[in-house]
Amino acid sequence: MSPRDTIFLEDGRILSHQACPGDQYLLRLEAPRIAAHARPGTFVHLQCDALLPMRRPLSLMRASAQEGWIELLYRTVGLGTRCLARRRPGEGLSLLGPIGRPFSWDPRYPRPLLIGGGVGIPPMIFLAQALRREKGRYRPLMLAGSETPFPFTPRPSQILIPALPPEVIAAMPLMEDWNIPSRLASLQGFPGCYQGYVTDLARLWLESLDADTLEEVALYACGPHAMLEAAARLARNFGRPCQVALEEYMACGVGGCAGCTVPVYEGDGIRMKRVCVDGPVFEAEAVFR
Ligand SMILES: Cc1cc2nc3c(=O)[nH]c(=O)nc-3n(C[C@H](O)[C@H](O)[C@H](O)COP(=O)(O)OP(=O)(O)OC[C@H]3O[C@@H](n4cnc5c(N)ncnc54)[C@H](O)[C@@H]3O)c2cc1C
Ligand code: FES
Repeated sequence: MSPRDTIFLEDGRILSHQACPGDQYLLRLEAPRIAAHARPGTFVHLQCDALLPMRRPLSLMRASAQEGWIELLYRTVGLGTRCLARRRPGEGLSLLGPIGRPFSWDPRYPRPLLIGGGVGIPPMIFLAQALRREKGRYRPLMLAGSETPFPFTPRPSQILIPALPPEVIAAMPLMEDWNIPSRLASLQGFPGCYQGYVTDLARLWLESLDADTLEEVALYACGPHAMLEAAARLARNFGRPCQVALEEYMACGVGGCAGCTVPVYEGDGIRMKRVCVDGPVFEAEAVFR
């Protein structure tokens, strides 16, 4: 089945819309068909306002197939997201989704290292939720970085990570609730956070592992281009597999316009791939060499 066979046009209804720190918003929508097919790494292309015909892509952060809702977390950056922020509970939103190739995980790598940066954090949350549902087969570690305030109130972690400095204790509340270790990084001096890039925090952890444990690690990353490049380099240096989710400028969002293509290495050659339907998740070594 091609990824396009399960893209639905659905009228979502806003169930809740909550302002968070850092000009960010948490949006929950009733959208049962999209919720039933949502996978970590996929996204919806949504119409922020009836007067804005061009849709905007936002990653799925969580979904409940049973209850028929999806959750998105977005930062207001321009006209589209500012229009979206004005929408109220009860209103309808036209959605296309779920779109794209999702993350995949492999029992050979039971220690997934999830690295999220800024608005790249939401798909990592969805991935953590999916790994958690695999009945204890995976022991993920979530590391998240942000240079604007995090959209949640960081919580001192109850879960020890011996490899990391003890003062790096700020964690994501949702991960704590799920008993998944997490730590936060920022250059802004936020309390309890690692003072530096999230990929440097990841390096500290990777360096602490013995050879056998390292063999169990796979990296997953979503965030700004420079962060993805750093994550890919890290994976290469430690000889680990790595998947990255790209966020390219998009027009149609469903594979029809070639407006989102990026060069991807295949064998000895380079091919142009559409981020919307061939991605947004790619093997890191195919994008960064
Ligand atoms: C697959 C994917 C998933 C994304 N997930 C999230 C998410 O979960 N949370 C979140 O806050 N943001 C996410 N983004 C980025 C988000 O789509 C842009 O911030 C948003 O489209 C900006 O629209 P705007 O009209 O407010 O801003 P403007 O800057 O006014 O947008 C103008 C045009 O540029 C495009 N554009 C601007 N910035 C980006 C960008 N970084 N990436 C792609 N297109 C851009 C818009 O689609 C629009 O057509 C994602 C992008 C992609 C491609
Ligand atoms: S945005 Fe049109 S092909 Fe990807």
